[in-house]
Amino acid sequence: MTYFLDNVERTAGYEPGFQPGGTDVIKLNTNENPYPPSPKVLEAIRDLPAERLRKYPQPLGDSFRTAAGEALRVPSDWILCTNGGDELLSICIRAFCDIHHPVAYPNPTYSLYPVLARLQNCPALELSFDDPKLFDQLAEAGGALTIVCNPNAPTGRLIKADQLGALSRRLKGVLLIDEAYVDFAEGSCLPLVKDCGNVILLRSMSKGYSLAGIRFGFGIAQPQMIEGLLKVKDSYNVDAMAIEAATAAIRDRDYHRVCVTKVKAERTRLTAELRKLGLEVADSESNFVLARSLKVPAKDIYRSLADRNIFVRYFALPGLEDKMRISIGTPEQDNRLLESLRAILTAK
Ligand SMILES: Cc1ncc(COP(=O)(O)O)c(C=O)c1O
Repeated sequence: MTYFLDNVERTAGYEPGFQPGGTDVIKLNTNENPYPPSPKVLEAIRDLPAERLRKYPQPLGDSFRTAAGEALRVPSDWILCTNGGDELLSICIRAFCDIHHPVAYPNPTYSLYPVLARLQNCPALELSFDDPKLFDQLAEAGGALTIVCNPNAPTGRLIKADQLGALSRRLKGVLLIDEAYVDFAEGSCLPLVKDCGNVILLRSMSKGYSLAGIRFGFGIAQPQMIEGLLKVKDSYNVDAMAIEAATAAIRDRDYHRVCVTKVKAERTRLTAELRKLGLEVADSESNFVLARSLKVPAKDIYRSLADRNIFVRYFALPGLEDKMRISIGTPEQDNRLLESLRAILTAK
């Protein structure tokens, strides 16, 4: 006997990355930024008047919309504030999909998409990222919503904006481009939004702005699209403290640039060092790399690292069983990872 709808009962639920306790831990498993948020964020939180907590927050996150609009050079009514990028995914699935209106996406990708589809009871059309005809397949799949994660997680691969622009023009439905990791990539699909009324961009403050603990993301789309999405969101989906923090973060462009530059430089170094250890590592445009082990099973490496208090992400999913996703840490953290990997790979 269950009280839950069949589709809910049958859904395993999304499994978030492990959050280890303790201090001597190297956490490279959930793509957090290794650097702290801008000092201006902490100032903004400290200076928040009690009155702002007593009252409900701005329903649309006006301060953030203005600041993000200035930073990205789009009008503020093109911005939808959300409780993390994840909430935008959930809003879009609820707005566009049901049992007769499928979601389509290339795989492997962010493992939350199929979970949201199951909860919404809509068909999920999964196409292979490696299919040379991927864009024809996506165009013909008939998704009411098509999601392309760009750069993709967990592969780090970037699709060019003009390819996605061509796709958006062939689709009958909406194209949601998940740009959670775009801060670490060369180029974004922002110009597409201006030309294509069916494109929504997802952005996250968790990665490039070091605010995973705050829960703040946003969507960018033409105002008509934003109007529709606003009907689906909770009335007060972003809280007063998060609005202040995210606003301060997006205004501090110099700090953001410095952090992102450090992560990208370290990504180049880590990729080269992992390759020297015999791992296969694809070039990444994100703040993580996907490393394939040819000699030792990836799951065994993952476990041996965890025994040493070093956490990377292992997905027991088709196409990913022989790989580990490693978030870019500080040079010190990555050196400890490399030392341990060297020991593990030579001992086996
Ligand atoms: C591909 C992708 N999209 C969206 C998100 C959502 O990020 P957040 O809800 O922290 O903004 C994540 C988080 O890990 C992600 O990996």
